Amino acid sequence: MMSRRLFFAHWLDEPAARAAHAAARSIAGQVGGRVMAPESLHLTLAFLGDTAEERLPELISLAGPLAATAPPFTLRLDGFGYWPHNHIVWASCREIAAPLRELAGAFKRELGAHQFPTEARPFHPHVTLLRKVRAPPPALDAMPPFETTVNEFRLVESVSLPGGGIRHDALVRWPLVGTPQPAEPKN
Ligand code: 2AM
Repeated sequence: MMSRRLFFAHWLDEPAARAAHAAARSIAGQVGGRVMAPESLHLTLAFLGDTAEERLPELISLAGPLAATAPPFTLRLDGFGYWPHNHIVWASCREIAAPLRELAGAFKRELGAHQFPTEARPFHPHVTLLRKVRAPPPALDAMPPFETTVNEFRLVESVSLPGGGIRHDALVRWPLVGTPQPAEPKN
């Protein structure tokens, strides 16, 4: 049985990718590590991992209604951090915007309902900026925030290349065409 390593993700738009990449390069100048190429920068919405190829149509049909109901939104990435267990430096949101939380929640619910594996841990949205960083970089707090427009999501296959390395192939892209919900009144 053929399997494919799959995930749903938001791919950074070009201005966001440029800003994020510039920030990543400034860190690499201090502590080394491998800077991710701008065109590879993304935020994973739901990670499936190895998935039987014959389940691809089911996955595609469950994603369509999510894109039909999710509105486009702007996401501000204003928090930066380092995970020592996998040596990555990432950008994230200090507070998860409601539309992002809802979209990730909808994925989890629908994937679970169709017996796909879902993440048990709380959603920690992040864009990996650097890998193989061996020590916590100083001054991550001083990194400049950036914004990205989330107006589509993609189903992506992670393909291991024979010489090492990974290629990300977008299999399907869905525009977000839901109607924005009115903001909750703040007291
Ligand atoms: P990372 O950047 O933190 O490694 C493709 O590998 C995408 O899926 C990346 O965004 C990666 O996150 C994420 N990913 C890989 N393994 C994962 C897992 N077990 N759970 C959640 N996300 C994962």
